[in-house]
Amino acid sequence: MCGIVGAVLSEGAVLEGLLDGLRALEYRGYDSAGVAVGIEGGVSIRRQAGRLESLEQALADGALDGARIGIGHTRWATHGPPTEINAHPHTDAGGRVALVHNGIIENYLELREELCEEGVEFVSDTDTEVLAQLVGRYLGRGGDLAAAVRATLARVRGYYAIAALAIDGDGDTLVCARQGPPLCLGIVAGGAHLASDPLALVRHTREVVFLEDGDVAVLRPGSCEVTDGSGGAVERPAVLLEIDAEQAGRGSYPHFMLKEIHEQPDVLARTAFDRIDEVGGEVRFVEEGWEVERLRAIERVQLLACGTARYACQVAAFQLEGLAGVPAEVDYASEFRYRSPCLSPDTLALAISQSGETADTLAALRLARELGARAGAICNVPESTLVREADCFLMTCAGPEIGVASTKAFVSQIVTSYLLAVAVGRARGTLDPERVRGLLADLRLLRPRLAQLLSRETQERIAAIAERHHDVKGFLFLGRGIHYPVALEGALKLKEISYMHAEGYPAGEMKHGPIALIEPGMTTVVIANKGPLAEKVRSNLEQVRARGGQVICVGSDPGSLALADETIEVPQATPWLAPVLSVAPLQLLAYEIALRRGCDIDKPRNLAKSVTVE
Ligand code: M6R
Repeated sequence: MCGIVGAVLSEGAVLEGLLDGLRALEYRGYDSAGVAVGIEGGVSIRRQAGRLESLEQALADGALDGARIGIGHTRWATHGPPTEINAHPHTDAGGRVALVHNGIIENYLELREELCEEGVEFVSDTDTEVLAQLVGRYLGRGGDLAAAVRATLARVRGYYAIAALAIDGDGDTLVCARQGPPLCLGIVAGGAHLASDPLALVRHTREVVFLEDGDVAVLRPGSCEVTDGSGGAVERPAVLLEIDAEQAGRGSYPHFMLKEIHEQPDVLARTAFDRIDEVGGEVRFVEEGWEVERLRAIERVQLLACGTARYACQVAAFQLEGLAGVPAEVDYASEFRYRSPCLSPDTLALAISQSGETADTLAALRLARELGARAGAICNVPESTLVREADCFLMTCAGPEIGVASTKAFVSQIVTSYLLAVAVGRARGTLDPERVRGLLADLRLLRPRLAQLLSRETQERIAAIAERHHDVKGFLFLGRGIHYPVALEGALKLKEISYMHAEGYPAGEMKHGPIALIEPGMTTVVIANKGPLAEKVRSNLEQVRARGGQVICVGSDPGSLALADETIEVPQATPWLAPVLSVAPLQLLAYEIALRRGCDIDKPRNLAKSVTVE
């Protein structure tokens, strides 16, 4: 939540670069935005409620164009509504310090009270303003900004990534610090940049330094000094990013979500194909901690995640139980962290997360480890907190996912958990090499089928269906077995980006209540594939039709397709991977409906890409 950027240059101007960086980070929050620059011996601030465009308009007068040092912020409100007053940067009472923040200051009320007693007047509702006021207090006249930031952070409980600039004393210095949310630096000749996400740095450099918790960094043009909380120097080597500016853009697609849906066949290949040995009948992970003895020792898997990643966990549970014969349980990370689960050392607690920064997921995995389980992760961001904290991890290779609605990450998670289930099954002897060879061949076949499914023809068909259904009363998504989580995901996609009411249900559960919703004007999406449950799904579909409900059938079962009002035929696949195919049309359906409803597809209201608060 919230994106922060900063830059200091020896020559030239920072403003355009700050705005570019904020554009790349807007997925992190987009209810207000602001910048602060050091110019003409003072700190100048511009902030606006609403999208970045409003800020760009407010800056169009050119008054801040010459600044060589500045910070910027794009907000997802936590404390106080998304108004201009609550937008970042915040300043101290003297207006000498400007500060941007991502995270939560837990003891801000007591600090605020203390400052109020000293006569400080607060103008915003935010926890961040406390930080700005404290830095101002510790800075004194001509003081050392880094020392003032360290003194401030010593008073603070919570988690944060911050960046500050001050006018007297360190006129050409930016100070930033991290405790929790990510922060990275890019140092170039004559300049230094900071950002919440390397995506905002790739246009300056691909060599990036990731700060660790407790680090405070001082940035000057061409240099950066990283210290710990007491000012002692620490070494943080630069990492060469694999992403480039092109991957971070949306190319010729109108939305990131559509681009990311169409990237899925390649994502599948990147995630899977280097890890499979079809001849030997083996899965090979380059990541450490998945050696055969380790895999054999797994007696139970506790899957933990939020949102879409949690639905991937539900698919993973089917794969682990069905292929490896290992009991697998799924919980919402936000629920798990507040119950008293029973775990043992032979339990693999496996967190799945695209960002690796989801607060509930991190807390749940920490708890699982405290309770004795081994902490594993499936994650898309190598530098994330989740990957750094896990005992063992598997990377998904989805590349940057910018659209707030997760799509390609889901597919890469399902493919990774499939590989894990096959590897565990092989290690435990549940699967023999012959069977593994077959399962890996199934995986190989999936890519062309997914590519075929994502053809222009399918998209046009789905667009036509969306045209007829974009203003219905509501949607019910039904699926059975491994397709039940796909039904949940279809409903989540639709509500996230089109704001229509949609519910996902196990198809067999419909008659126990949700059937009361069925009437003309209510659309039911049924996932119906060939297989042992096909007949049962067909009869659920008939029950909907008998009550006047409209049915969109997505799947490979000809009997169900013949009964439906609208059909999206999906190629057949092995049941353990079939969700990869059945989810793609649901993603496109949500997209096409949202488009027709005029919604902001990549930045749906009230959401943010990674939820780093509770
Ligand atoms: O980064 P994570 O995978 O941990 O995020 C989990 C959820 O917040 C995320 O999947 C969310 O539900 C998406 N907006 C779904 O499209």
